[in-house]
Amino acid sequence: MPQPAGIDPSLLDPIDPLPLRSRTPIEWGRSALADPISLLIDHAFLEKKAANNAMELMTHWPGDWLPGWVDAMTAVARDEAAHLAHVVRLLSRKGGKLARTHKNPYANALRLLVRKGDANQIVDRLFVSALIELRSCERFAILARAAADGPAQDADLSSFYGALCSSEMGHYKLFLKLARKIAPRASLEARWLDMLESEARIMAEQPPGPRIHSGWNAYAR
Ligand SMILES: [Fe+2]
Ligand SMILES: [Fe+2]
Repeated sequence: MPQPAGIDPSLLDPIDPLPLRSRTPIEWGRSALADPISLLIDHAFLEKKAANNAMELMTHWPGDWLPGWVDAMTAVARDEAAHLAHVVRLLSRKGGKLARTHKNPYANALRLLVRKGDANQIVDRLFVSALIELRSCERFAILARAAADGPAQDADLSSFYGALCSSEMGHYKLFLKLARKIAPRASLEARWLDMLESEARIMAEQPPGPRIHSGWNAYAR
C-alpha cells in the first residue's frame, strides 16, 4: 500500500512504536471520515484547546524558573494555532462552519487524574498533555491511512493528517522531556505507567462518533 506523503512510516509499522495501552482499528478512521465536517469541527476545538493549554502552562513553570519552559510552551501554542488555522480552512473549503461550543469528555476525564500540590500537579498536567498528544498522534496516523486508501479517499486530507501526526508526536516528546526535568526519571516512571493505563480505560469508555477522541467499540471486529 502506498504511504501518504508527510507521514513518519514508523508510525504505521505493525510493530507498535507507541506506548499506548490500547490501539485504534482502521475501521474507526473510515467511520469517522464518513462525516468529515463533524470531524473537522471537533478537531478545530481540540487544536484551540491545545493552544489554550500551552498558553496557560506558559506561566506555570515549576519552582523559581525552568530554562526553556516559556520557549517550549510558546512553540507549542504557535504550532497548535497554526493547526487550528489549517483545520478551519479545510472546514470552510468543505462548506462547514465552526460551532460555538464543544464537549470533550475524554480530555475532561484525563484532567481529573491531576493530583493537587506543587510538583505533583505540574508533572501530572504535563503527563495529561503528553497523553492527549500521543492519542491524537495515533488517531491522525489512522486517519491518514483511512483517507489514503478508504472509500472517502482524499490525498490532501491524508497528507494533512500525516503532517499533524508528526507534529503532535513532537509535542508528546516535549511534554515528557519537561516532566523529566522536574523530577528524577525513576520517580516518574510508575506514575507515567499508571497514567497510560488510565488513558486506555478512559478511551474505552468513550462513545463512538465522528470525533478525534471518540470510542471505537462499535467498529470492533
Ligand atoms: Fe495540534
Ligand atoms: Fe499538539
